[in-house]
Amino acid sequence: MSTRTLKGLIPALQASDGAGVKLLRSLGQTQGHRLDPFLMLDSFSSDNPDDYIAGFPPHPHRGFETVTYMLDGHMLHEDHLGNRGDLRGGGAQWMTAGRGIIHSEMPQQTNGRLRGFQLWINLPAKEKMKPASYRDIQPEEIPTATLADGIEVRVVAGVLDTAGTTVAGPIRGISTQPLFLDVRLPAGTVFTHGLPEGHHAFVYPYEGMVDILAPGQDAQRINTHQAGLLGTGDGVTISATDQAARFLLLAAHPLNEPVVQYGPFVMNTREEIEQAVFDYQNKQLT
Ligand code: CO
Repeated sequence: MSTRTLKGLIPALQASDGAGVKLLRSLGQTQGHRLDPFLMLDSFSSDNPDDYIAGFPPHPHRGFETVTYMLDGHMLHEDHLGNRGDLRGGGAQWMTAGRGIIHSEMPQQTNGRLRGFQLWINLPAKEKMKPASYRDIQPEEIPTATLADGIEVRVVAGVLDTAGTTVAGPIRGISTQPLFLDVRLPAGTVFTHGLPEGHHAFVYPYEGMVDILAPGQDAQRINTHQAGLLGTGDGVTISATDQAARFLLLAAHPLNEPVVQYGPFVMNTREEIEQAVFDYQNKQLT
């Protein structure tokens, strides 16, 4: 295995989106802070309802996918197609905006706590105008693998394949072939996983911190709420050296296409963005 090393860190910054929802944004804090095809990663965590209670009232998207993964609390959502769902803690929603969706996302706390993520993944040019679709994935549909040393991995997308354990997640058939793992490492344990050469990958610790290990190299630390961008190679070794840690491991095939973003619209050219704005203003987005 050619082990990947850390090639950059994006510390999350405080941000506010929707109707004043307070969140931490790593990828996507500026248009230079991306990792093709990942456009944005927001982490929200609060036990104060004032930080999020107004939620994300109806808003549009075009040209990419949003993945909402809840740890605690839940999220009510509704879209223009008439879909209505309640995303529960431990569940995920995989929404393909395609040519357009208008939806609302309203966080609800459970026992005072709300915690989760929203990830934006770009769509290839040829799929940006496909019809919108979404999938609610219930907590029990996301398999949890227990590995040696008490390591636990929830497989949201792609396939966990390590040390003789193979577990497929519920999301398949996405052309960027995303891997989305939520890993819990007890203190002093190490997790190694293969990554297809050429796929872009990053690690996001949301509890504790982790070290990226590679032969002949000093350990490279990723602190809590930093996106650690990995270099090239066909695998990664991640250690919770001092204390237990929980992190997301995300990888996908890059698109290598031009990205032009205007708020919730992500297209390939300025003309396509102007068309999206025109379509939205003229109620033709969807
Ligand atoms: Co949205």
